[in-house]
Amino acid sequence: MENILEVKNLTVKLNGKTILEDINFSVKKGETLAIVGPNGGGKTTLLKTILGFIEPTKGYVRLLGLPPKQAVKTGKVGYLPQKNNVPKKFPVSVLDVVLFGLVNSKLPKKKQIEKALEYLDYVGMLEFKDYPFSDLSGGQQQRVSIARVLVAEPEIIFLDEPSTGIDMVAQESFYEFLKHLKETKGLTIVMVTHDVGVVAKFVDKIAGLNRYLHFYGHPKDFFKKEILEKLYGSEIELIVHAEECVACEHFKFKIGDKKC
Ligand SMILES: Nc1ncnc2c1ncn2[C@@H]1O[C@H](COP(=O)(O)OP(=O)(O)OP(=O)(O)O)[C@@H](O)[C@H]1O
Ligand SMILES: [Mg+2]
Repeated sequence: MENILEVKNLTVKLNGKTILEDINFSVKKGETLAIVGPNGGGKTTLLKTILGFIEPTKGYVRLLGLPPKQAVKTGKVGYLPQKNNVPKKFPVSVLDVVLFGLVNSKLPKKKQIEKALEYLDYVGMLEFKDYPFSDLSGGQQQRVSIARVLVAEPEIIFLDEPSTGIDMVAQESFYEFLKHLKETKGLTIVMVTHDVGVVAKFVDKIAGLNRYLHFYGHPKDFFKKEILEKLYGSEIELIVHAEECVACEHFKFKIGDKKC
């Protein structure tokens, strides 16, 4: 399998402060990667650098075999930023939000609407097409936002904390949905998340990032005390073998009040 993303010796300094240091990893076509780590660890900065919004201080990124800015211009790269940028009270319909995903498309308007409706159906939101976007629940808004990213039919998508504001039950079904996307569309998915326990069973790889890439590998190798301490600090509490744990068969972990 070919690498769709390559990050090589990447160092990023912002205003004289080193945010990322010597990061190396690659993602193969069709893989799903979760980037995890504490607040301020550099996850969003890494995504923005991969997408060409931030220039590396050292090292480089190859996305679809190209420098980031060129890759993004191909239209094969989707991005859902950390904060959804639809203003809260802006009276825009669900269908319009999805159509934003086709602003660079050369398709005639009628075809664009057909496509937008097809993707709303795909994310299970067709019946809401004429609703104001702001009236939807957090989870429904995320589905629509995903449709906006998917409607351009990208090969790789980057999602920055896509499950923020979604409750635990909806989170599970959201990740099931991402898994379905990967299986039906062969899409490569790179997402930033704090739901380590939940995502572990849906992703192929985990990247543990806190300035350095402390861990990169299979989820089953991630839930080890020494790795979690390196990443989150020593307050982390590892609870061994809780039956209901979804992360893996052996460990449950706790960061502050957040439990998996
Ligand atoms: N333009 C900037 N100039 C200086 N420092 C910045 C800039 N943008 C981000 N930072 C700093 O870089 C660090 C990493 O920020 P980043 O947003 O990448 O973290 P994150 O891992 O996404 O955090 P969170 O989990 O809270 O979203 C933070 O300390 C932040 O203050
Ligand atoms: Mg962030």
